[in-house]
Amino acid sequence: MSRFLRKAIDKVWKLGRPQLEELLGKSLEENQLLSSVMDSMDEGVLVCDPKNRVLFWNKALERLVPLMGHEYQGRLAWHVIAEKSIADFVHETLESEDSVKDRQFTLDLGGQPRVLSCSVQALVQKGKIQGSLIMFRDATVRIVKEARLRRAESLASLTTLAAGVAHEIKNPLGSMGIHLQLMRKSLEQFGTCSKEESEEFLDIFDEEVEKLNKIVVDFLFAVRPMDLELKNLCIVGIFDEILGFLEEDLKSHNIQVYKEYEKGLPEVPLDGRYIKQALLNLIKNAVAAMPDGGDLKIHGGVKGDFLEIKVEDTGTGIPREEMDKIFEPYFTTKSFGSGLGLTLVFKIVKEHRGDIQVHSRVGEGTCFHIQLPLPRSGTQALLSSPKSSSEGGY
Ligand SMILES: Nc1ncnc2c1ncn2[C@@H]1O[C@H](COP(=O)(O)OP(=O)(O)O)[C@@H](O)[C@H]1O
Ligand SMILES: [Mg+2]
Repeated sequence: MSRFLRKAIDKVWKLGRPQLEELLGKSLEENQLLSSVMDSMDEGVLVCDPKNRVLFWNKALERLVPLMGHEYQGRLAWHVIAEKSIADFVHETLESEDSVKDRQFTLDLGGQPRVLSCSVQALVQKGKIQGSLIMFRDATVRIVKEARLRRAESLASLTTLAAGVAHEIKNPLGSMGIHLQLMRKSLEQFGTCSKEESEEFLDIFDEEVEKLNKIVVDFLFAVRPMDLELKNLCIVGIFDEILGFLEEDLKSHNIQVYKEYEKGLPEVPLDGRYIKQALLNLIKNAVAAMPDGGDLKIHGGVKGDFLEIKVEDTGTGIPREEMDKIFEPYFTTKSFGSGLGLTLVFKIVKEHRGDIQVHSRVGEGTCFHIQLPLPRSGTQALLSSPKSSSEGGY
């Protein structure tokens, strides 16, 4: 249609009144169609000219975003938005000619927190910036769904964990049962148990009770919801503390440490104790995987909305068939391993709303890759609201 209009405009001086009326009618129709498409969208749309003045907006914008006044046309985009945090963000982004996707804001509309996601992008036509498009989406449902999914994931882990405990306690219980039977036989046969025999049985009982106790203590540690005490911390300080603590150990194992920290890493809300525990577990596993020495690479950087942490070794690597099991409780390939190290790392990362991945090649090494969300007030606020505070945890 617009091509047809353009052609018609080129020849407008030749057109008679009826043709002009038809042309304007068509143009009006097209305009109305576009308007009704825009107004039936769930996303709020605000279009600005190159000077950041409002050209166009749709109905959803008025529904989603608190606005100032009634007439928006021609006003600076950030003067139209009543919510200060959003107005400041829009102002900053438009002035810096940046393009931002999915920045989240929490709005407390009548006590019900809602998360609004805002994206800003340039409108480019024929290689020239013609203005900006600002889109708003209600992200509340998506975020609550994600939290529910995380919870389901946690419940699934709980089932695996319980199955693991059941399996673990079978051995000590079996051993105690056998020794009780032996004791009973001895009593039936001789009416008594020798001092040596009794002491041997009691020692075995002691040992097995100790094992059972450890299983229960470890289990409780793994299932108890973590009461995170979040403080803004820089990951570099945490790594340096752990590496200082392990210095002698690393030297004696002939392990060379390489630190790769990006400059000016932001502070992130972390529970220092738990994050320290998780990174220590990863580094200890790396050390164990390099019995003849090797390289340990620690990386800290920012990628998108995440803080990225990598712990990489040049050790034995993990066989493909074990990759799916390493985070499972009690999975270990070590004679004296608890098999709970990575289970805890996983739990700690999830409690921080992060993600963890592993890349490994047998004979070459392993890299654990953690992503932790950078502070985004929107998500944090919604998920810590009383309604969903039970989310998370096993
Ligand atoms: N960096 C690594 N390199 C090779 N294998 C690893 C590494 N980290 C973990 N694993 C494997 O995953 C298993 C589970 O690790 P973990 O949960 O920490 O328990 P544990 O250290 O007690 O065995 C280890 O036994 C090992 O087989
Ligand atoms: Mg371990």
